[in-house]
Amino acid sequence: METTLTPAPAAPAPTSLKNTPMLKLLDIEKVYQTDTIETVALNRVNLTINKGEFVSIMGPSGCGKSTLLSLMGLLDEPTGGVIEIDGRAVTSYSDKELARVRNHKIGFIFQSFHLINDLSVLDNVELPLLYRAGMSSKERRQRAQQALERVGLSARTRHFPSQLSGGQRQRVAIARALAGAPEIILADEPTGNLDSVMGDEIMDLLLSLNREQGTTVVMVTHDENMAHKTERLIRFFDGSQVS
Ligand SMILES: Nc1ncnc2c1ncn2[C@@H]1O[C@H](COP(=O)(O)OP(=O)(O)O)[C@@H](O)[C@H]1O
Ligand SMILES: [Mg+2]
Repeated sequence: METTLTPAPAAPAPTSLKNTPMLKLLDIEKVYQTDTIETVALNRVNLTINKGEFVSIMGPSGCGKSTLLSLMGLLDEPTGGVIEIDGRAVTSYSDKELARVRNHKIGFIFQSFHLINDLSVLDNVELPLLYRAGMSSKERRQRAQQALERVGLSARTRHFPSQLSGGQRQRVAIARALAGAPEIILADEPTGNLDSVMGDEIMDLLLSLNREQGTTVVMVTHDENMAHKTERLIRFFDGSQVS
């Protein structure tokens, strides 16, 4: 990207991208309006996530963390401000382009895994790929198998979620996110339902995806230890960033 004669830093290749913004939130506001009450979930948030970064977000319950991730993942729209992905305002994307960005660029991981209990592990991982136009069933299967291998679950492809431990279920959910080869993973308290051993396993997996593949990760967590393993920690309080 840049031409320079100075020696490259010792850091791995993905690091060179770290000054390139992936996601930009400019003066973001989110107000939820119900019949009786108006809730300001986010209040003028300004935040840039660069390519290849691993950022954690902490803050008390109800301070807007999940709202922030759902806006970053284009699952919901802000009531004010601008979101940019790859330098382009989200509002300038057509619905079709938005659906494509959601499906190709972004992978979600949730606290409660969100697996479908009636589907095998392999079918769960393949599911988001069904929305990829032109992808053959063979390629879907291959990608799903590779993703399950990546999370160490190749031996469990025919199992059902109920036959797995919590940590294994979360690894299936990560494989489901990975199968689409996303550039950014948004993880909402991914270790919140796991004991500390399983939680550490999931954290190590996210760290290695970030380091080895350069995947950008934004993770909401209540765990200070995990947050301190990431490059940047952002603290939220009452809808705003405080540090
Ligand atoms: N769909 C919704 N409708 C109305 N209020 C909501 C909705 N989602 C979240 N809220 C409110 O917005 C605030 C922020 O919620 P949330 O983003 O889930 O916080 P956190 O993830 O930090 O616990 C809370 O006061 C919550 O009650
Ligand atoms: Mg939340």
